[in-house]
Amino acid sequence: MERTLSIVKPDGVKKGLIGEVISRFEKAGLKVVALKMVKLSKDQAMGFYIVHKDKPFYNGLTDFMSEGPIVVMVIEGEQAISKVREIMGATNPKEAAPGTIRADFASDIERNIVHGSDSKESADYEIGYFFSSLEINSSIN
Ligand code: RTP
Ligand code: MG
Repeated sequence: MERTLSIVKPDGVKKGLIGEVISRFEKAGLKVVALKMVKLSKDQAMGFYIVHKDKPFYNGLTDFMSEGPIVVMVIEGEQAISKVREIMGATNPKEAAPGTIRADFASDIERNIVHGSDSKESADYEIGYFFSSLEINSSIN
């Protein structure tokens, strides 16, 4: 069993895709074990994406992630990290496999609807960024 953090990004919330994203995870057998809507400040978005601080897209990304409310959730299941990434599709929607969330709904490489942790280490950091252990209704540990 694994846990991962997923986010419906500001573009996904604006397009009315909260339910669609959650539904795709649930249909794949994954469970939502924590969930909330928040609006990040620019500083909070910078802290969340700190691994990208030296990337050319860091400023644009953190502006985007703080432009409106997002839905953050902890997803649990067998191989949850890779399963969520598979359901999301490639970062660039033009390269995302048909039937993935990003292929179906994303407008460009930045405004790509959804986030998912990319490793166990990022999942631990990202879950801790938004949730305390008391808020996670987990079946593990
Ligand atoms: P995420 O972290 O949001 O799940 O996305 P990812 O792993 O597929 O992609 P990553 O390389 O971690 O990039 C994080 C987010 O930054 C934006 N981005 N913009 N303009 C660009 O070239 C560019 N590259 C990345 C996207 O919103 C991407 O999801
Ligand atoms: Mg990433």
